Amino acid sequence: MKDKKIALVTGANKGIGFETARQLAALGITVLLGARDAAKGEAAASRLRAENLDVRPIIIDVNDPESIKRAAARVEKEFGRLDILINNAAVMLDDGKKKVSEQSLETWRRTFDTNVFGLIATTQTFLPLLRKSESGRIVNLSSILGSITLHSTPGSPIYDFKVPAYNVSKSAVNAYTAQLAYELRDSNIKVNAAHPGWVKTDLGGEGAVMEIPDGAKTSVELALIGEDGPNGAYLHLGERLPW
Ligand SMILES: NC(=O)c1ccc[n+]([C@@H]2O[C@H](COP(=O)([O-])OP(=O)(O)OC[C@H]3O[C@@H](n4cnc5c(N)ncnc54)[C@H](OP(=O)(O)O)[C@@H]3O)[C@@H](O)[C@H]2O)c1
Repeated sequence: MKDKKIALVTGANKGIGFETARQLAALGITVLLGARDAAKGEAAASRLRAENLDVRPIIIDVNDPESIKRAAARVEKEFGRLDILINNAAVMLDDGKKKVSEQSLETWRRTFDTNVFGLIATTQTFLPLLRKSESGRIVNLSSILGSITLHSTPGSPIYDFKVPAYNVSKSAVNAYTAQLAYELRDSNIKVNAAHPGWVKTDLGGEGAVMEIPDGAKTSVELALIGEDGPNGAYLHLGERLPW
């Protein structure tokens, strides 16, 4: 099974990440199911193994550089490369009762630590292993809530949805995606930003409209794009979103 692709999904013990792991493994890919909590990761991976899928838990807390390094060392030792990195882990910590100007700096910092700096740290640590792949793919989970264009367009579907620390963290994910895509433009690696849809998960909350299996589709699509696929794009189910 030397030719099986190897994928790592961060924050995959539940929600969209868990379903992304399931869908990638169902396509014959070996999936490393990332979780910051060992017990949750093991429980999630064994649920998928019970479906006869090749899913292995791996501890990775994107806020802990040592845990990212340990995970990369294990992937290097076991597989010598990584083909797909799905930067899925994220938090939404804004206080819904507070205005944009009132969110605490603590909330801004904690949000950026996970959603932006954690994503960058994970990407930097795994990039040498992705460079060893014939066709590396990085999928950064963004959100339509990261669209500055839509946030500044009265009447857009998200105009009134101001959870600022989360929203701005996803704008930063988009911006980082464009910067990294530039560096990787002549390499075998493609990096794109995904909006999964408004999905019924703990983070999506009440009112979300999409079922989780559909919410994983954009991540899976972008993980599998071919050589002619996009690099540095911001997409939802194949459609480009305004930055
Ligand atoms: N749901 C939506 O409607 C929606 C819309 C747009 C974008 N997104 C994006 O889609 C992605 C997945 O969201 P979701 O709805 O599936 O959220 P979720 O159900 O809340 O799952 C988030 C996952 O991230 C993990 N995580 C949080 N902090 C972490 C850290 N420091 N290190 C490692 N893992 C960490 C969580 O682990 P624990 O269980 O340990 O907390 C959990 O596994 C996120 O990037 C989110 O921003 C979601």
